[in-house]
Amino acid sequence: MSISEQGTVPRAPRSIPVLGHTGALWRDPLGWLKACSGGPGIQELKLRGRRGYLVADAKLAHSVLTNVSDFDKGGQIADQARAVLGNGLLTCPAAEHRRQRRLMQPAFTRERVGEAGVVMVEEAERLAASWRDGERLDLVPVLNRLTQRVTIRSLLPSFDLSSIDEMVSVFDRLLDGEVFRHAVLPEWARNLPLPSARRFTAAVAEADATCARAVESARADPAAGGLLSALLEKGAGEEEALFSDEELKAQVVTFLAAGTETTASVLSWFFHRVAEDPALGERLHQELDTVLEGRTATAEDVPQLPFTNALFAETLRVHSPTWIIARCATREVELGGHRFPEGTEFYVSPYQLHHNPAVHPDPERFDPDRWTGGRSALVPSVGYVPFGAGARICIGARFALHEAVIAVSALAGRWDLRPEPGARVRPRPRIVMAPHGLVLRAHDRRAAV
Ligand code: HEM
Repeated sequence: MSISEQGTVPRAPRSIPVLGHTGALWRDPLGWLKACSGGPGIQELKLRGRRGYLVADAKLAHSVLTNVSDFDKGGQIADQARAVLGNGLLTCPAAEHRRQRRLMQPAFTRERVGEAGVVMVEEAERLAASWRDGERLDLVPVLNRLTQRVTIRSLLPSFDLSSIDEMVSVFDRLLDGEVFRHAVLPEWARNLPLPSARRFTAAVAEADATCARAVESARADPAAGGLLSALLEKGAGEEEALFSDEELKAQVVTFLAAGTETTASVLSWFFHRVAEDPALGERLHQELDTVLEGRTATAEDVPQLPFTNALFAETLRVHSPTWIIARCATREVELGGHRFPEGTEFYVSPYQLHHNPAVHPDPERFDPDRWTGGRSALVPSVGYVPFGAGARICIGARFALHEAVIAVSALAGRWDLRPEPGARVRPRPRIVMAPHGLVLRAHDRRAAV
């Protein structure tokens, strides 16, 4: 194949003079991404005055995600995420990634995730017991709270209730849309004396102090267990220098940022889909009732619920919480027959790949039976990357699956969540793609018997 320079790469649709694709991405990012699916494998984008490339072809996208030496974290999104999250596992460059990942691995073994299952069950049951028959539920914040509490308690089992609540509100402020939007402003605008600048600085400082307390408490009591104390162990990283306090703080922020809204969002979409289609609800309830006979699932039960797993996998396909992933070329690279200089920014969109009819026939049809043959959401394939792929694949994927299946078993085991007439649910792609306008009404299944 002859190699052409980057200047010959076709431009993605819906570009306008000066603004390029910024408007399309602001107004209707998902519609725009779908429109890119029918086009060439690599398409030029102009976002906020900078040139980048959408890698729309599933095979090329896979090679961008898996070739970590040529395509590293970097570019404007990664730099700005680092300003909020610190230099933790999610944001660190490839040169530091191997060591960080090896030191993080002991926190995510099957055994550790199994232990975290106890907290997942307790929190899900607590939530299920708090609802009243006929209650109207604004589900996204409710599930955000659930995943925040599960993550904090799994990190630090010795934290008392008031420390958990305090940490939840500190992170609410840090990950608040306005604070994050401030971090993504261009450098010159970030330094203006705006009210959002003050809130941003205050939220980062507050989160830093909270994480420092968390690290201190894990160091003081290494026998307390939990994910954070697992990061203090040598584990697989025998020859690696252990995490410094600064690095540990970044990992705490990373867990909360990467692991809470994502899982809450997929759970919210899950309940939305089941509420919209009574046949799915019936199959789900039947599986839970037959396998669990009224109890909440434990970590051991997770693989025994194939339909629940299939619903989770299909929800991740259609409503991938991570809708855009950025990479930056570490040197001159060739991709799809074009040559790109070092520093070029590339974007892979799980949402776009998951809605590409060439990979997923009839992509808008929500059909869990695509997954009932035993394929798992945890195993990426070309065109299915809800957790990414390669060395940077989500380290918390199993944790997320367990947390979601356990929550579904407790909540759907007891409650039938039905849609509110007239509610208009639509995706809102921010950092994570959560459903906007989702309101469901809880009906006690025991009262219906
Ligand atoms: C359904 C829920 C989740 C989804 C959809 C999700 C998605 C992702 C994706 C797509 C990546 C790769 C990003 C990239 O390649 O740039 C990633 C990485 C990561 N995720 Fe998740 N995630 C979820 C849950 C979690 C949980 C529960 C945790 C932690 C408790 C977590 C922690 C991380 C971390 C630390 C990374 C960085 C991994 C690395 O670079 O080595 N995630 N996640």
